[in-house]
Amino acid sequence: MLRGAISGFGEVAAHAHVAGWRTRPEVNIVAIHDPISARRHHAIRLIPNIRVYDDLELMLDGERLDFVDVASPPAYHAAAALTALAAGAHVLVEKPLSLAAGEFEALRAAASSRGRVLMCVHNWKHAAVYRLAHDLIGAGRLGEIRYLALDRLRTAPAGMETGTGGGWRLGEAAGGGILVDHGWHVFYLMRWLMGGLDPAAVGAFLGASAAAPVEDVADLRVIFPGDRIAAAHLSWRSPVRRTRAMLYGSEGALEIDGDRVVLTGRCGSSEDFPLTPEADDSYHPAWFARMAADFERAVLEGLESAVAAENLAEARAALALTLGARESSRQGGGQLKLA
Ligand SMILES: NC(=O)c1ccc[n+]([C@@H]2O[C@H](COP(=O)([O-])OP(=O)(O)OC[C@H]3O[C@@H](n4cnc5c(N)ncnc54)[C@H](O)[C@@H]3O)[C@@H](O)[C@H]2O)c1
Repeated sequence: MLRGAISGFGEVAAHAHVAGWRTRPEVNIVAIHDPISARRHHAIRLIPNIRVYDDLELMLDGERLDFVDVASPPAYHAAAALTALAAGAHVLVEKPLSLAAGEFEALRAAASSRGRVLMCVHNWKHAAVYRLAHDLIGAGRLGEIRYLALDRLRTAPAGMETGTGGGWRLGEAAGGGILVDHGWHVFYLMRWLMGGLDPAAVGAFLGASAAAPVEDVADLRVIFPGDRIAAAHLSWRSPVRRTRAMLYGSEGALEIDGDRVVLTGRCGSSEDFPLTPEADDSYHPAWFARMAADFERAVLEGLESAVAAENLAEARAALALTLGARESSRQGGGQLKLA
């Protein structure tokens, strides 16, 4: 059995992580850390025999843990992950893994020197529509990929759309606005759908409405090797909620709108793929369950784990694109080469 603990018991932990870990027969969540007493009470109500802590180090001292799952707001991720790695635990971190290049290197070095797995929750790779898109690309149905566009239209930040909280998304604990909240997801998806290529350049416009303390719109253009282009429009200003994508290659175009996926070939014939609809909420328990399976596999495989190495390469690219997009926007939106 792997003994795990969760640091940050908010909406995503309660709605997705607990359910996801429960699908793993060899994993037992034994402890929760959250500074807010109402959240610790919620954990006690939700998880039989759970022990709760208001202090991370106390939890790490008091428990014999194989891993820590960090699900607090972004500004706390890197410090919590470093503390857990120093205590000898494997670590799974909600996105974003970190928001500074030095921090990322410190995390990577700590995991590697202690022989521990460090992974970030890249759960959109487990959405049925993106898995299908990836499979179709792998089977050559689109030919050589040339362009993809990912749109995330939201009427407000998660939690604030539904009235369940998440106010930190507009404050310091978020470490930024929609670029940090949704950008990380679209960046690792772009890299994955482009066949694992690292991005070469990024250009961005980040905008904040008069009342918004952080950027509430991000318009992004990423160039991959071979003049492949990936675009994304992320918005908390939209009048409606939509999650869409369009990809094309030399042989076909794929359109994704919610759960609908349509492939149109060069000859003009279209194929509609019937997928079981997945809940369009902000938490996605089924995707986290598949992420939990990846993490468990990586822990069992140890330092040689290809899943963990690929995940860290995605996180490195997502961080480089986040920082590059900010810099490009500051400089007026032109293309910025990535090192
Ligand atoms: N991968 C996804 O699809 C997805 C979806 C939603 C949220 N998230 C991520 O999950 C994280 C949490 O988001 P949420 O929607 O659950 O927010 P939330 O506000 O519901 O929960 C955050 C929890 O963290 C606790 N907390 C605050 N400071 C802390 C600290 N220093 N240490 C530990 N816990 C602390 C809060 O008390 C709260 O219970 C964020 O990083 C967010 O980006 C990911």
